[in-house]
Amino acid sequence: MIIAKRFEELGVVPVVTLQNPSEAEPLGEALIEGGLPCAEITLRTDAAVESIRRLSARRELLIGAGTVLSIEQAEKAQAAGARFLVSPGLNPRVVKWALAQHIPIFPGVSSATEIEQALDLGLTHLKFFPAEPLGGIPLIKALSQPYPMVRFMPTGGINLENLEQYLSHSSVFACGGSWMAKSDWIRKRDFSEIRKETGNTVHTINSIRSGDEVKDRR
Ligand code: 3PG
Repeated sequence: MIIAKRFEELGVVPVVTLQNPSEAEPLGEALIEGGLPCAEITLRTDAAVESIRRLSARRELLIGAGTVLSIEQAEKAQAAGARFLVSPGLNPRVVKWALAQHIPIFPGVSSATEIEQALDLGLTHLKFFPAEPLGGIPLIKALSQPYPMVRFMPTGGINLENLEQYLSHSSVFACGGSWMAKSDWIRKRDFSEIRKETGNTVHTINSIRSGDEVKDRR
C-alpha cells in the first residue's frame, strides 16, 4: 500500500483540527517547512472539508481526512481531495465503501477481536487508538504475537518523549499525533511554533532511526 509506505518513510502523521479554512494554507506551509508534508485533517469542525480542499491543492502535501465516522463524510472528504481516510474505530460499512473506491483507509482498532474484523475485511495496516490510554507499547507487543501480519499506527497520547518506544517496534509503521500542531497554537495563528515543533519531530525521528541519543533542540 503506497500511502502506508509513505507514512512509514515520514514516521509521523500530524493529526490536525482546524476551526477556520483560512488556517489551512499557513498550516500547510509550516508542515512543509518543518519537514512533515502530510496531515490528517479531522472531520470534527465545519472548516474541515474546505481545509482539505485548500491543502490538497498543494501538490507536495499528502492530505487525508480523520475522524471519518460515516460514508457520507468519507464521500465529502474524497471529493475535496483527501487521499486517505482515518477513523477512530472500525466501521465495516465505511471500510467496504473505501475499499470499493480504492481510497486507503486506516480504521482504529484496540483489541484482538477488532483486528480480526479488520483482517476479515482485507486490511493489515491499522490505527491503534487511543494508544496511551490503552496501555501503549506493551499492548502492541502482545497483539503483534498472534498477528505478525498486522502493522499499527498508534495514535492518542503520543509525544516527543514517548515516540521512540513506539517507532522502535517493528509492528509500528508510523505514529499519529497532534503535538506538533496543537489547537491552541492554531487558534492563536502561531504557525511558527508548528514549524518549530514539526522540525523537532523530524529531528527526533532521524535520531531514533540513526540510534543517536535524542537531543532536545527546543
Ligand atoms: C485524535 O484523534 O485526536 C488523535 O488521536 C490525536 O491524539 P493526540 O491529540 O493525543 O495526539
